[in-house]
This record gives sequence, C-alpha cells and structure tokens, in this order.
Amino acid sequence: MKGLILSGGAGTRLRPITHTSAKQLVPIANKPILFYGIEDMARAGITEIGIIVSPHTGAEIREAVGDGSRFGVDVTWIEQAEPLGLAHCVLIARDFLGDDDFVMYLGDNMLEQDLVDFVARFQAERARRETLPLEGDVAPAAAQILLARVDDPSSFGVAEIGPDGEVVALVEKPTDPPSDLALVGVYIFDPTIHEAVRSIRPSARGELEITDAIQWLITHGHRVRHEVLEGWWIDTGKKDPLLECNRLVLDTIERRVEGSVDDASVIDGRVVVEPGAKIVASTVRGPAVIGADAVVERSHIGPYTSVGEACCVRDSEVDDSVLLAGARVSHISRLTDSLVGRDAEVRRADHRPRATRVMLGDHSLVEVE
Ligand code: DAU
Repeated sequence: MKGLILSGGAGTRLRPITHTSAKQLVPIANKPILFYGIEDMARAGITEIGIIVSPHTGAEIREAVGDGSRFGVDVTWIEQAEPLGLAHCVLIARDFLGDDDFVMYLGDNMLEQDLVDFVARFQAERARRETLPLEGDVAPAAAQILLARVDDPSSFGVAEIGPDGEVVALVEKPTDPPSDLALVGVYIFDPTIHEAVRSIRPSARGELEITDAIQWLITHGHRVRHEVLEGWWIDTGKKDPLLECNRLVLDTIERRVEGSVDDASVIDGRVVVEPGAKIVASTVRGPAVIGADAVVERSHIGPYTSVGEACCVRDSEVDDSVLLAGARVSHISRLTDSLVGRDAEVRRADHRPRATRVMLGDHSLVEVE
C-alpha cells in the first residue's frame, strides 16, 4: 500500500495567511497540518509516499518535509503545474503509484481517527473476499471512503447511501445535497481508479473531481466501501475550524517544559515550552505550546494557545489563538480567537492621538474591541 498526499492547490480560503505560504504548513499545536498526515501514514505502515505540490508552494513544502526520513518514510515529489482537481492528482501520480493500492489524503484535512484500522479493514475485507468468497459475495471493494455527518453538506462532496447500506451516488458540492454525509479527505483506492480518472471529464468548475471518478467506479459495477467517521474531523482551510482544531489537538498534549522559566512565572497544567523559549514574569495556562526561541514577558498566555517559534509576546494577554513563527504581540490587553501570520505584529500605540493604525495585507480581517 502506498500513500498519496495532496498538498498543491491554490489555498485561497485562508488568505492572507496562505498568500505567501502553503496552507498545509499552517501549524496546529506548532506542527504543520501536513506532518500529521505523514505521521498517520507512517503509523499505518505506509512508507512510500508521493506528495503533490504546486509550483508556488512546492519549494517551501519540500524544505519543511525533507526526504521523509525523520518520519521513517520515503517521499517522492510530484509537481502539479496547475490545480486541475483531486482526480488530476491521481492522473499525474500514475508512475509513482504503479499497480499498488494506495491511501489518498488531502493535505489540509485533520482527523482524530487514525488510519491504522481504516487501512486494516479495507485489506481484511479484500483478503477475505479473494480467498474465501461466500455465496452472494460481490467483488471486493475497489475503493473505500470515509464519511462524516455535517451541518452544511453543500460545501463538500456528498454521498448517497442506498437501502442496502451501499454507496449509490456521489456528488461534489451539491446545491441540493442528497444526505448530510460529507466525504472526508481520506480515501483508499485499488488500481481500477486509474481507468476512472482517465475516463471522466472536468466539472463545471474546471476540475477533474475525485467524486466523479468514484461515481464512475460505482456506475461501472465496482463496489465502494464506506465508513462513517469516529471522532472529529476538520477541513482546516478557514480560521475558525483551524482554531477549533488547534484546541482539539492541544487537549491531547503532555506537559514538557524545556525552555527557561523564571521564578516570577507560573506554568499551569499541560504546557509545552520548547527549548530556547524564555518565560519571564508571566503565566502560561494549559493547554498551550510555546515554540522554540519564543519570548513571553509580563504576559498571560492560554488556555488553548499556540505561540510559534521565535514569537515575542510582551505585556499582553493571549488566549484561544495561534501565532505563527516570528509573530509579535505587545501591550494588547486581550487577544482572543485570533490567527496571526508569520512575522506579523500586533501592538498598542504608545503615542497620541490614540487611534487604531493598521497596515493590513490583502483579504485581512481586524476586529477592533
Ligand atoms: O475536505 C474534504 C473535501 O475536500 C471533500 O468533501 C470534497 O469532496 C473534496 O473535493 C475536497 O474539497 P475541497 O474543495 O475542500 O478541496 P481543496 O480544493 O481544498 O483541496 C483539498 C486538498 O488537495 C488541498 O490540500 C489542496 C490539494 N489539491 C487540490 C486541488 C484542487 C491539490 O493538490 N491539487 C488540486 O488540483
């Protein structure tokens, strides 16, 4: 079984954070979203992983991931010149995938459930049907999908389940959804998918849709196995889901304090302070992570806050927020529910007239108290 992680695309929804960097590298609890997917595959025993990247963000992603050895996997880089759709990614990964089964994972998705059992059930069912066919057995599944009940299915791929419990139809971002079962960004395919992706045509939005390719499998008599997700799942492309995901992952961390904490500071609960970080005359209330070489002075951090590497927080209170590497916050009485980009600065003006002065990137949002 191989792995294919989709980390290309245009990343327009998390602007301006992803104007300049890949959305798959936005950190959750100070670790890039993409790394959770790679680690999940490694845990499921998948060590040959192809990663699809775009010409805009490929270099940055390659640099962050390296050759994969730190995750115990081998990475093959596959560049997609334009974001022509999820099924297009399968098309251009043909040489890498060969005739192996593979897990396809959307690089901006995070889920609580791990891949180990999901992969094991696909393989066990195939093996059983191949070696011990029972009366009434249909062929083994050519694909396996993961579904989750959502409130607004119209912004996802949506599955329709027939009376016998099998997937009968799939539709991408329907205006009139046939169910509330959205496709989560994790799929397993056998090599039949290659014929499917070659046979479909671009959708109205100009993309080769993986939902259309899976629909092609169903229409051509192949079985598509499905499971309904256990635990949480978040498509992290927007700010609020990203902050929610940060909260969920922070809830699972263990306390580890390696940086320096002076006598006037309090580290309360499950807090990670990375090496090189300095906590001075401050309180950090867990769950929270303070990245390497960050400085927190005369401040209150947390709960549910990730302060990235080399950030600087002075004379401020920050909770329920994610600060990306190098961000600076000073003299802010309370910063909450916020996502602050790399090297961005939020500070209180110390000169008169008292006013709000901003230099905002395109598509930015500031809510003044
Ligand atoms: O998040 C789950 C949803 O993901 C599913 O319910 C949908 O059926 C599926 O089509 C997909 O929808 P999105 O519109 O959210 O996909 P997005 O464009 O955000 O792309 C998902 C990932 O794949 C992201 O990491 C970027 C990457 N990608 C995307 C495209 C279109 C590529 O690498 N190449 C591409 O051409």
